[in-house]
Amino acid sequence: MCGIIAYTGQRQCKELLFQGLRKLEYRGYDSAGLSVLSNGHIELVRAVGNLDSLEKELEGDGCTGAHAGLGHTRWATHGRPSTANAHPHLDCTGKISIVLNGIIENYQDLREKLTAEGHKFTSETDAEVVSHLVEKHYDGDLVEATRLSIGEISGHYAFCVIHSGHPDLIVGARKECPLLIGVGEGENFIASAIPAFLSETRDVMVIGDDEMVVMTPDGVQILDLDKQPLDREITRVSWNADAAEKGGYETFMRKEIYEQPDSLTDTLAGRLPAGGGIVLEELAIPDKELAKIDKVYIVACGTSYHAGLVGRYVLENWARVAVELDVASEFRYRDPVLSPTTLVVGISQSGETADTLAAMRQARSQGARVLAITNIMGSQATRDADGILYTRAGLEIGVAATKTHVAQIAAIQLLALYLAQIRQTMDPKEISEVAAELKSIPDLMRNYLKNEASAYEIAKRYYQQPFFLYLGRGVGLPVCLEGALKLKEISYIPTEAYAAGEMKHGPIALLDKGSPVVVVANDGHVYEKVVSNIEEVRARRASVIAVATEGNERIKSLSDDVMYIPRTSEMLSPLLSVVPLQLLAYYIAQLKGCNVDQPRNLAKTVTVE
Ligand code: AGP
Repeated sequence: MCGIIAYTGQRQCKELLFQGLRKLEYRGYDSAGLSVLSNGHIELVRAVGNLDSLEKELEGDGCTGAHAGLGHTRWATHGRPSTANAHPHLDCTGKISIVLNGIIENYQDLREKLTAEGHKFTSETDAEVVSHLVEKHYDGDLVEATRLSIGEISGHYAFCVIHSGHPDLIVGARKECPLLIGVGEGENFIASAIPAFLSETRDVMVIGDDEMVVMTPDGVQILDLDKQPLDREITRVSWNADAAEKGGYETFMRKEIYEQPDSLTDTLAGRLPAGGGIVLEELAIPDKELAKIDKVYIVACGTSYHAGLVGRYVLENWARVAVELDVASEFRYRDPVLSPTTLVVGISQSGETADTLAAMRQARSQGARVLAITNIMGSQATRDADGILYTRAGLEIGVAATKTHVAQIAAIQLLALYLAQIRQTMDPKEISEVAAELKSIPDLMRNYLKNEASAYEIAKRYYQQPFFLYLGRGVGLPVCLEGALKLKEISYIPTEAYAAGEMKHGPIALLDKGSPVVVVANDGHVYEKVVSNIEEVRARRASVIAVATEGNERIKSLSDDVMYIPRTSEMLSPLLSVVPLQLLAYYIAQLKGCNVDQPRNLAKTVTVE
């Protein structure tokens, strides 16, 4: 939530900061702003709304000529979206400016104390207290003032600060919110995520929790909170800067849907060797320990949770291990029963979701082994886990997750096969058969996407409907949950997703003539049961939109519309059956004129609980 960028160097910073914010806009777009160090004073420009509004404010001379400054794009937590609540914030003197991502939990107390000491607040945000704290502690040394301020705040945060008396100095700090350094030549960047500076440098340094960074054009120093310098390696990232561009597609979401076959190829690469077996190199938890695992506990949020739900079916089916699953925000406040033989799997695209990280930490403190499935190298999840399984889906900008979801499903399928191999719950021949089929999915998906034509036609027929019900059984259920989430988050149409067998226990009351009911009805052991549920829907004269297996002609007579996917074995089918539901949601949202890449109120990375 919220994107931060800072620059100091020889070049004019206005455009660099603004372009950096463009790459961070997925983190929030309630307001945005820049503050730059300009001829001994701070120049501040802010605007409500997404970056287009800030761009207008910056037209002309605003912020021109400066060589160091801060940028911020906001997802509102404390205080509604307004210019006053937009970052950057200033102190009372106008000499200090900060940008912050996260939450200062004790901000009320601090605000009262600072107000009593004479500080004047101009916003309703928690973040503004940091600028006043730095002002209070400033005595010519910005690093020390920042350090003393950190000592007074609690919560989780990443922030950067500048002072008009230090024309090329940026000081930053982080605790449980992302902040990275982009190391250049004669210039340096700090940002919430790598894409913000990827077009300028690929050399990255990670800032750890409870660490500070002191940055000038000539160097970067990382300090602990006693101001002791810390060694930190520079990593060269291999991402392509073009990955953050739309590459000819009208939206990032559409591009990412169409990138899914390539992402999946990357997820599987090297992990299913021709000689047989499953190879998961970064797993880092010894096979001896994995063999003793008697329970897998999956924790995640949103779309990642839906991938975890698919995980439950494949882990039970292939690895014959007991699986529990919870949304991370519930898990962290329960009293889960864990032991050293529990494997807790935290799934998080960003590796920065506050609830998932808290759940993983809690699991570790209770002695469980923790594995992170994530897309982001070096993210916090990778540091809070015993082992890692990267999804390797490439950069995803669209707020609605698509390619990372499919990659998460494949990653958990790989994990299930790996555990099956260690636990000998499948024989090597069976594993090789599933592995061979898994390898064939990217091509099946590529072909499917090339020829897909029904989703748009169906979207045209139903996009004005006020409500959609999604029904599925077995591995079709998580697919429905994901399809329903996609539609509601980008089109704002209310949706419900239910286990098809539960429909008659309540949701059937919602159905009326013509109500659209999306049913995942792939061939498999629960297919006939799903057909019975379709009959129940039809008896209420609701409209059935089925996702079915290619070659199933009978489904046509049972449904108003069918979206066929290529035939696969049942446990692999979610990889494909989620795709028509992504497309359906996409086209409906487009037809309704919604901004699919920036759905209202959402942020891609939820670093607050
Ligand atoms: C996906 O479309 C969502 N916007 C959201 O549910 C997301 O999956 C969730 O916030 C979890 O994020 P993570 O995978 O980065 O932890």
